[in-house]
Amino acid sequence: VQLDVALLPRDVIEPEGSVCIVIDALRATSTITTVLACGARDVLVAGTVDEARRLHEEIPDALLCGEVGGLPPQGFDHGNSPVELEGLDLRGRRLILATSNGTRALSGLRPARAVFAGSLLNLTACARWAALVTTPQGSLTVVCSGTELGTRFSLEDAVVAGAFIERLATAMEGGRSVLSDAATVALRLWRSYAERPRAAFDDAVHGRALVRIGMGADLDRCAEIDRYGVVPRLRVVDGLLTVHGDATRIDDSRP
Ligand code: MLT
Repeated sequence: VQLDVALLPRDVIEPEGSVCIVIDALRATSTITTVLACGARDVLVAGTVDEARRLHEEIPDALLCGEVGGLPPQGFDHGNSPVELEGLDLRGRRLILATSNGTRALSGLRPARAVFAGSLLNLTACARWAALVTTPQGSLTVVCSGTELGTRFSLEDAVVAGAFIERLATAMEGGRSVLSDAATVALRLWRSYAERPRAAFDDAVHGRALVRIGMGADLDRCAEIDRYGVVPRLRVVDGLLTVHGDATRIDDSRP
């Protein structure tokens, strides 16, 4: 299996043939993992805030969530904070989520063979599951959502992408995987932060911005490894782009 890292969403080559794991470590894919682990029915992925508002008109029962500049846009029920959302009773609820980079990256990967949302919170479960659905001749790309509407590199996503490369190589029993240069860079970057992933978030521009607006607790939370066993997977259901939990426990990780 060819293991690649797309350091920006636009670096994904031929998504149609690839299994993709999208990373927006701070915070969209951590949030998606959290709400599905807390029993939410699904997350409707909106590429933009306007699209989220339109979806909410169609599905008013859904919780309207998201962020611009890290904070909920006007009229939204909630922001994009995993710590805040975990405090709610989400069982059976649908959420609509629009974020600056993460949901945008997910939306852009609609044509891929399979798309998962990965974070440190579901690192082992998501890596194992993605490895299981990738054929030996196939390719698996870890896609960093980046920053500035997905146009610029973001440290936190590259670090977490490296954590996924490490787990994926293990899941594929070493010899079965071949790393691209970007995957090797991400792996080495991860190893420099693996003892204390929170330090990567403190070093990152977006991490520091979240601390400035009082969201420091989210950095601690998003740095937790394997808090959840849920594996969020992108699907088109009735024409809507949604994310569901594909597996809920690491032990159950079979496609
Ligand atoms: C994003 O999509 O860029 C993020 O999830 C922003 C955030 O809420 O921290």
